[in-house]
Amino acid sequence: MQADTSLDERKSAAQAVADAVVYGLPARWYHARAIYEAERRQIFARNWQLACAESDIRGPGDYVSTDVAGYRFFVIRDRDGALRAYHNVCPHRASTLLDAGQGHCDLLRCRYHGWVFDSAGNLRRAPDFGEAAWFRKEDHGLKAIRVESWRGLVFVNFEREAPPLAQALGSLPETVKDYPLESFTKVRQVEFEMNCNWKTYTDNFVEGYHIPGIHPSFHDVIDFSKFETTHAEALVIMTAPQKSGSIYGGMWLWGWPNYTLSVYPTGMNCSRIVPLDETRTRLVYSFFFKDASDAARTANEATIETNCAIVREDFGICEHAQGNLQAGIFQHGPLSPKHEAGVRYFHDEVRRALGREAIVERDWL
Ligand code: FES
Ligand SMILES: [Fe+2]
Repeated sequence: MQADTSLDERKSAAQAVADAVVYGLPARWYHARAIYEAERRQIFARNWQLACAESDIRGPGDYVSTDVAGYRFFVIRDRDGALRAYHNVCPHRASTLLDAGQGHCDLLRCRYHGWVFDSAGNLRRAPDFGEAAWFRKEDHGLKAIRVESWRGLVFVNFEREAPPLAQALGSLPETVKDYPLESFTKVRQVEFEMNCNWKTYTDNFVEGYHIPGIHPSFHDVIDFSKFETTHAEALVIMTAPQKSGSIYGGMWLWGWPNYTLSVYPTGMNCSRIVPLDETRTRLVYSFFFKDASDAARTANEATIETNCAIVREDFGICEHAQGNLQAGIFQHGPLSPKHEAGVRYFHDEVRRALGREAIVERDWL
């Protein structure tokens, strides 16, 4: 009896040790085509995506055309001032309707064969299509996607049955409720492309462990000994006390599955982490300031450049890691309980989202 009990105790102690061991995602998940395809379906086709700022599309006909993980879409303000969003796919023979970027149009005309749509998505003209009794214009409008805005930021979701945006944002609204986000003016958007998987960059964003090694000037303006990483619902929260001379507010946020938000005394920035394929990622950074006047321009430009320098430091190291993730030597690495709780949380969410598809891949760890 005594022997059995101690065996049970030994077993549970061994289990506790096993449970406490935390390794990151397998290297293959950072470059395998099958994993990327599963992520497209299970993550990017189903979760709310930060698309743009409401101020990017102020008036009727203003649009932003962009993409995520190969899904091209655009957000447009219709003639009544309402936000609408569509897949950027012509229902005739699949051409894109709008080039990527920001612009204005009243009617959308497909360049391929000239079909014309209004901003409510209706097919208005199919020029020279010919007589066809079976063809009805009302059956061939644009494919709409869900769009909602939150405090000046516009999000879309390709999944019709997805929960509302407010629910998907999890702990974000509560975390930033005291910050006057709407009072900031967007002054610039900066894009970066890097040769790494979107998770390689995300892993980097959700930990401060690398700050002493990779960002020496950033390290100088924060009290790194008090850097903390926690996670809440759909959110990783990083905080650190600021020293004088810091442009930051001391709080950096990452939201599931791929946006970031940092608020500081003079404004904020947000970014979209956009997968281009399994080994390439685009970052789209938007910078907002409380004072967007000419008088503040020099200071604002300096803040933007400081941020961009840090991003460039990050993607340099991410590209180095990506090379090794693809080379076949590294399998997976141990995650620090002190610094990499955000990485662990992100990986758990990815595993959960991929679910059965990940198990089929036989890479569940
Ligand atoms: S593909 Fe758009 S009109 Fe033919
Ligand atoms: Fe960094």
